[in-house]
Amino acid sequence: MSGMILEASGLSKSFGGVNAVRGVDLHVVPGELVALVGPNGAGKTTLLNLLAGQFLVDRGVIRIAGADVTRLDPSSHARRPMFRTFQNGGTFAKLTALQNVAVAGIVRGMRRGEAEHAAAEALARVGLEPVLEWTADHLSGGQRKLIDFARLLLAKPRIALLDEPTAGVNPAIMDVMRSIIISMRDAGTGFVSSAMTCPGFLISVSGSSFSLAVRSWPAALPRKSAPTRLSGKPTSHEHSH
Ligand SMILES: Nc1ncnc2c1ncn2[C@@H]1O[C@H](COP(=O)(O)OP(=O)(O)OP(=O)(O)O)[C@@H](O)[C@H]1O
Ligand SMILES: [Mg+2]
Repeated sequence: MSGMILEASGLSKSFGGVNAVRGVDLHVVPGELVALVGPNGAGKTTLLNLLAGQFLVDRGVIRIAGADVTRLDPSSHARRPMFRTFQNGGTFAKLTALQNVAVAGIVRGMRRGEAEHAAAEALARVGLEPVLEWTADHLSGGQRKLIDFARLLLAKPRIALLDEPTAGVNPAIMDVMRSIIISMRDAGTGFVSSAMTCPGFLISVSGSSFSLAVRSWPAALPRKSAPTRLSGKPTSHEHSH
């Protein structure tokens, strides 16, 4: 009803004495990109783990397309509209590029043949057609990140969580990622993407008529500090701290 595809409020998570995430509120509407900005250890990955259901929240509520998924694990049906990538890549070393991507379809209920067909198409789109049959352990770090993007294309999620997608990636691969994000954003997918700084990637994405929302919560910020929200023309220094 609210039109929000992701709504999180009051999310908190501690590990022993470490308050990794404290009282974070986050809302994403279709076609919006929310960048998580903060230094190492700020809690970006932890927040993505909470949103994706990999970690259980200590406090707070998470809704996807209106459904309360706070206590549901990542494989639950209500979480299907969500897709996430991992900071260290999520490939299986001994599976081929094709199999690695097809898995994303199979876990979403596709038959194997259908998933492999969609995987081949997605891999062609990211430029990995020549290495379709290579196992992931023979691919470069950048190519493995493109496998994540091929999965993203195949999954066609309503909400995508990306963890430092462009870290350590060359400009050609960054261009592919940017074009995929733009086309998916235009189709209405919402994104939450962590970035340690605001790299050129996000700036130039916003330059291509993205509405960029940047929220920053270094561990030192007080609970529910006001986020900085930007539309249109951000500078390279959106940090609110
Ligand atoms: N599974 C875990 N067990 C214990 N502590 C954890 C766990 N995951 C994260 N932490 C701690 O929570 C804090 C936030 O870590 P997190 O990885 O979320 O930060 P980050 O913003 O993603 O950092 P980076 O920029 O390095 O990726 C850190 O102090 C970290 O050590
Ligand atoms: Mg991280």
